[in-house]
Amino acid sequence: MAPHGTRATARLAVLASGRGSNLKALLDAIAAGSLPAEVVGVFSDKPAAAALTMVPEARRWSARPRDYADREAFDAALADAVAAVSPDWVVCAGYMRILGTGFIARFAGRLLNIHPSLLPRHRGLHTHASALDAGDAEHGASVHFVTPELDAGAVIAQARLPVRADDTPDTLAERLLPLEHRLLVAAVGLAATGRLAERGDKAWLDGQELFSPLCLDCSGKLGA
Ligand code: GRF
Repeated sequence: MAPHGTRATARLAVLASGRGSNLKALLDAIAAGSLPAEVVGVFSDKPAAAALTMVPEARRWSARPRDYADREAFDAALADAVAAVSPDWVVCAGYMRILGTGFIARFAGRLLNIHPSLLPRHRGLHTHASALDAGDAEHGASVHFVTPELDAGAVIAQARLPVRADDTPDTLAERLLPLEHRLLVAAVGLAATGRLAERGDKAWLDGQELFSPLCLDCSGKLGA
């Protein structure tokens, strides 16, 4: 088997809990031929998640955490299901459960998440409200490697947008979402083409450590 990330098309396992707009952005980019990857499985903690309907039934896996003895047991079942599709990369795209250390260890170095804030600001939930409460002039989204500490892994790339005086958490979220989609597609593109790695809790691009996150420009390209 080729080392992960160097196949012609990278195998992506995507974790999602809800509507799956970020998953759809990946699928659309793949269909358009601009992302050399294949979504080989969509995995959810919500059997009714709309994200699951975006791929054929054979590529869906879902389970209810409450049907398992504890968090570790659910995470182990999820990890087994993800491992079974031999992913090159595991992408959390609107996945709303905290992943346990066992799961993270199993996919370390190839586990990505998109988070709707300019990390390290506003880790956790309700990031748009937090940015407004803090009076931030800018807000945005980050794609980062997943580590056991919540939203604390090495940040690979970010997209930024100005906060408007009349913004509410909803209007901010709405304006940010299209940027998230372009950011995730661009960042996963670096992973899919074998340019991205995680070493020593840092992000590396083309064999060089990333000392600051890449920035998404208005054309959807990532630059230093
Ligand atoms: C997005 O804002 C994403 O950043 C966050 O979950 C939200 C919903 O994602 N993690 P999606 O529309 O289900 O992809």
